[in-house]
Amino acid sequence: MRMEEYNYMIKQSVGFLGMGCYIPEKVVTNYDLEKLVDTNNDWIVERTGIKERHIAAPEDATSDLAVRAANLAIADAGLTPEDIDLVIVATETPDTKFPSTACLVQDKIGAKHAAAFDLSAGCSGFVYGAAVASQLIASGLYKHVLVVGAETLSRIMNWKDRNTCVLFGDGAGAAVLGNVDEGYGILAIDLGADGSGGPHLSMPAGGSRKPASHETVDACEHFIHMSGNDVFKFAIKIMARTALHVLEKAGLKKDDIDLLVPHQANIRIIDSAAKRLKLSTDKIMVNVEKYGNTSAASIPIALCEAREEGRLKKDQNVLLVGFGAGLTWASVLVKWHK
Ligand code: ACO
Repeated sequence: MRMEEYNYMIKQSVGFLGMGCYIPEKVVTNYDLEKLVDTNNDWIVERTGIKERHIAAPEDATSDLAVRAANLAIADAGLTPEDIDLVIVATETPDTKFPSTACLVQDKIGAKHAAAFDLSAGCSGFVYGAAVASQLIASGLYKHVLVVGAETLSRIMNWKDRNTCVLFGDGAGAAVLGNVDEGYGILAIDLGADGSGGPHLSMPAGGSRKPASHETVDACEHFIHMSGNDVFKFAIKIMARTALHVLEKAGLKKDDIDLLVPHQANIRIIDSAAKRLKLSTDKIMVNVEKYGNTSAASIPIALCEAREEGRLKKDQNVLLVGFGAGLTWASVLVKWHK
């Protein structure tokens, strides 16, 4: 899409008015995992950069984590839940297949005037959600949209599978999007999908293709199944490509990026994207060592932490880049407004 067409679509400037995140207390270190599966700290750190991850309390489901992050984001925006027009929850671990987790969140936070829906785009989900929210606000339909990325991946992890159980963690991050001063906020969006790669990262059973049965449970088909190498190759290729596309749409160059907030899946994937974009380490937000891959929650959590660390400043070009199950990818380029 050409820049003129893009500008035609976005009628108002939309940015991040408030943010919040919630990290469960319980920490599981690589050394803890050594006791569960045939792995070791050195292998996990060297291949992924992950040192520990947080796991939700047994009584908490995804909506509980989402609500804590959402309440912080709404307060941070200086709003009340009644000001929210729409709740989008990006997740691959909803409390139940239906009702949606977004409806549970809408009720629990008291967003009485809000519509609500879940969004499934794997680890790209939060960025997809921010893109959708920005257009619904820019069109004038809504004023304030709450976008949450929340996951309890520990509930769909096979704790006997060393290929996957070392990679993931639980958490939630949220943002309220709304109008900001002209020239600030989301400058450009790049969303994409390649469904042919779907089998590389999936939960095979529990849907209409393979309803839950004793056989599917016995075959561990309600857990994450992943072909790590295929996802790795896809991620390396797509991270830089989508980043370059979104820069082009905004009429900017690699040098114009002030902060890259990438999906936190694996330090080697992040390093590879940084190399292709010729970004120095001080321009990249990394916290994968503390939380592992929290899927749709990873980018909003990293964004929150970047702000806590004083790394988000007015006038900066902040690039959010995600990739994940689908396979999907998503980038938004934001001119930070405060
Ligand atoms: N501990 C020790 N050894 C292990 C472990 C482990 N936890 N896991 C795998 N191995 C072994 C394998 O069995 C294999 O052994 P073999 O050679 O005897 O068969 C060996 O280590 C190498 O395995 P590879 O899969 O080739 O290792 P690789 O270097 O590719 O690293 C990894 C694996 C970390 C999973 C990598 O492929 C990766 O990060 N992929 C992307 C994963 C990802 O990002 N997923 C999510 C993205 S989308 C989303 O976030 C939902």
